[in-house]
Amino acid sequence: MTLMDNNALYDITYGMYVVGCYSDGRPAGCIVNTCFQVTSENPTLAISLNKNNHTLDCIKKNPRFCISIISEDTDPFVISSFGFRSARDTDKYEDFGYDVLDGAPAVRGNFCGRLVMDAIEFMDCGTHVIVVGKLAAQYGGSGTPMTYSYYHDVIKGRAPKNAPTYRK
Ligand SMILES: Cc1cc2nc3c(=O)[nH]c(=O)nc-3n(C[C@H](O)[C@H](O)[C@H](O)COP(=O)(O)O)c2cc1C
Repeated sequence: MTLMDNNALYDITYGMYVVGCYSDGRPAGCIVNTCFQVTSENPTLAISLNKNNHTLDCIKKNPRFCISIISEDTDPFVISSFGFRSARDTDKYEDFGYDVLDGAPAVRGNFCGRLVMDAIEFMDCGTHVIVVGKLAAQYGGSGTPMTYSYYHDVIKGRAPKNAPTYRK
């Protein structure tokens, strides 16, 4: 058996999230499906960010960021706006607006909840960097959390090259 002989990687399950951060005072951020809780005591979470994504540069400069947990009711245009364009050359918040939660931008809309984070570790993994963040605050929302497979199977969405789980 070689790495390429099987699709076991495709059976790993994920959720869907909007990361919100600041880029020199302007709101920025992107979609990630890679987010998990690392510890329950002094809660920490991790996300994986592509080195080419502006979001990583922003969080390195300004460690406070927000994770919005996408629900099945979240406007799917949020995913296309945040997941397929770079905040380097576009205002992703233009159509949605945002609220500032404890110093981090949170795109407006229906979400299951929001997590305000402070990045504390950056782990180089080649094409991507794992950002470990400490939970600073959390806010409840409503709805059913969208899974990555729901995004593929029901919304019929795809993931771009910079997503860690990109498939050719
Ligand atoms: C469904 C989906 C999942 C994604 N997951 C990730 C991810 O986990 N990590 C990542 O770095 N990019 C991921 N992306 C890609 C980024 O959202 C995308 O490259 C974005 O344009 C980066 O914007 P930025 O340059 O403003 O940071 C995903 C995109 C989609 C649509």
